[in-house]
Amino acid sequence: MAEATVKPWGETTVVGKPTPRIDAYERVSGKAVFPVDVILPNMLYAATLRCPHPNATVKKIDVGKAREMPGVHAVLSDADPEARAVGWYSPPAGATQMMSRLFDPHCRYEGEEVAAVAAETQQQAWDAVRAIQVEYRTQPFVIGMEEAMKPGAPLVHSGSNQVAAPREIKRGDVAKGFAEADVVLEETYRTSTEIQAPMEVHGSVARWDGDHLTVWDTNQGPFGIQSGIAKALNMPLSKVRVISSYMGGGFGSKQEAGKYSVIAALLAQKTGRPVRLFLTREETFLCVGNRQSHIMKLKAGVKKDGTLTALELTGLGEIGAYPSNASVGYQIGDLYKCPNVHTQELMAFIHAGRQRAMRAPGYPQCNWALEQMMDSLAEKLGMDPVELRLKNISTICQLENKPYTSTGLRECLTEGARVFGWKEARSRPKGDGPWLRGVGVAGGMFGEQFGPPATAIVRLNADGSVDLNIGAADLGTGTKTVMAMVVAEELGVPLDRIYVENADTGTTPYSRVSGGSKTVFGDSPAVRSAALEVKARLLEMAAEDLKVPQSDLVFKDGAVTAKGGKKLTIADLVQPRTRQMVVGVGRRDPDLVDKIVRPFATHFAEVEVNTRTGEMRVLRLLAVQESGRVMNLLTYRNQVQGGVLMGVGFATMERRILDSTTGKMVNANLHDYKIPTAKDVPAEVTVLPIDPHDTECSLTGAKGVGEPSTIPTAAAIANAFYNATGIRVTTSPITTAQILTLLAERKAKG
Ligand code: MOS
Repeated sequence: MAEATVKPWGETTVVGKPTPRIDAYERVSGKAVFPVDVILPNMLYAATLRCPHPNATVKKIDVGKAREMPGVHAVLSDADPEARAVGWYSPPAGATQMMSRLFDPHCRYEGEEVAAVAAETQQQAWDAVRAIQVEYRTQPFVIGMEEAMKPGAPLVHSGSNQVAAPREIKRGDVAKGFAEADVVLEETYRTSTEIQAPMEVHGSVARWDGDHLTVWDTNQGPFGIQSGIAKALNMPLSKVRVISSYMGGGFGSKQEAGKYSVIAALLAQKTGRPVRLFLTREETFLCVGNRQSHIMKLKAGVKKDGTLTALELTGLGEIGAYPSNASVGYQIGDLYKCPNVHTQELMAFIHAGRQRAMRAPGYPQCNWALEQMMDSLAEKLGMDPVELRLKNISTICQLENKPYTSTGLRECLTEGARVFGWKEARSRPKGDGPWLRGVGVAGGMFGEQFGPPATAIVRLNADGSVDLNIGAADLGTGTKTVMAMVVAEELGVPLDRIYVENADTGTTPYSRVSGGSKTVFGDSPAVRSAALEVKARLLEMAAEDLKVPQSDLVFKDGAVTAKGGKKLTIADLVQPRTRQMVVGVGRRDPDLVDKIVRPFATHFAEVEVNTRTGEMRVLRLLAVQESGRVMNLLTYRNQVQGGVLMGVGFATMERRILDSTTGKMVNANLHDYKIPTAKDVPAEVTVLPIDPHDTECSLTGAKGVGEPSTIPTAAAIANAFYNATGIRVTTSPITTAQILTLLAERKAKG
């Protein structure tokens, strides 16, 4: 059914209501089978030998002893032609040769793969890995991005440690803009490297049936993993099936095929048995991604009345040992109205695990800089920080010079300030010490909103129950539930009569990766479209059966009613004659060409800081989100709370620490790498959705919310910290140690 002919929803009866996940029981009872739970008959367990050095070449490897260990069935290394044939890490534009191999003799970071073993038990596999004898030639390494960019620094790859040409946004004339400004401020902000740390560790179970490979893999989109594996093993897509119907989170780190998937497949081929290769928690800290640390020099000009005149950003990002995408500049170019903008961004290779997307890649880092700068500008102008932001709202995407379908930023700021009690909180005394209180605000936005290709299949059975078939992975966000609600809305079928099959390349239609907060935005219109096709077919059938024109029929509450009251249920329509099922295939219309879809957010924070002990407590957070229609108030709130809590981690504790003498990560575990637990986050995290009734952004009116919800949290906390103490923390995270240092510095200055 063509979307263009379909009206946007007005009031809805199912969509929007706070609705528990349709698979909640399976999830909480342990009945849901996640890839990490898959145990196949006759399955072997695998483990990986990883390079312990940040930069080393394998001079000699002896797997003889490992092969003789009890329970061991196979050892795989670069000596095996099938492993040697696998290229890994796409080269930068222009080059053709892959940058590394599955077990490349040159290891460029601590944790790079050297060999792997398959054995009867996991313990035997780990023991055998320890029995592999490797002689490494260690080489000088560089683990800091600024050091990496200096002449003479150890090189990660030949040529230079600069990953690619600088990324630039250029608009107007910044020199002119700064000349027009009444206040110009400049500051350098830094963020720390964070680890995605999803609940389910990364890994795969691989099984061959003849020349057909099935991989149970934990990922954000099985189709991307399928093509990654097929490419690595030079197989047709039709012979590779990837299943990830349940998966335990990814936050960006599970968007691409892992070496582990291919290693498991090769070991399974070699042994003729299914092979399970899951990483340990400690391994995931080293080699499946991180949010890169960034240095951002930001200069901003503003007029007395609060009008921004120029923004200039010089950025450097730490990319790790292989190329990735890690630009941060988007919000500088588009969050606030500003005629003169110049961003210049560089990325540096270092000898450490490679960056991968992490929840709104680049956005929280940039927000940390931009939103603290806005706070500083407001102070200099003697203006309220909310007012300064309201002064600079654009309803046009300045990067593309096209209007947004909706711009919720203004309402996020005003409604948020009202609900938070901003004015009152701002004017309250900070306290007499040692505990001082403060409040802060930060705005934010997210890009990335594009839809197709998206396909969904709705199968209406003769008893009126529905099978919904979608390719998208449910990251734990409630995708399956929201999509089922769309079907329930259109067909009047109760949710408990809908079964959702998802994320299996063998049985579901193609879907893009669940990333970029695009799953509901991209796929729910296709689901609605499929349901509408079923509905249209039912009306045709009823018209035929009742011998009345279709215009005399209404579909309501799962039945067709004719003028005069005659009613046909779905069963009445579908069961007779040879009809047994009505199938609707829905596709999403192309993206808008003349408008831009963007979600917006504003977060408010209140903190208290002990100026004697350096402790900071986040007392309360308010997350105001404008992501179009709320599809399910319960999962929406859950999503936003999760985003906010990750923001608290960014602001207060998360940091990969690399030891400067060994180049090794010293906190590669959940004990030493802190992520917020229940005791670290405020009891009061309020989620306030702003619904702009955007009928243009998509067929369901929804935009993405998963990533926008984590963007402004850290800057709001930093601004609240400043409000409490008068101290600007430019480097994340705001740890007690850092607070004590800053307090001591201030004292020394007098
Ligand atoms: Mo996301 S960081 O696009 O999974």
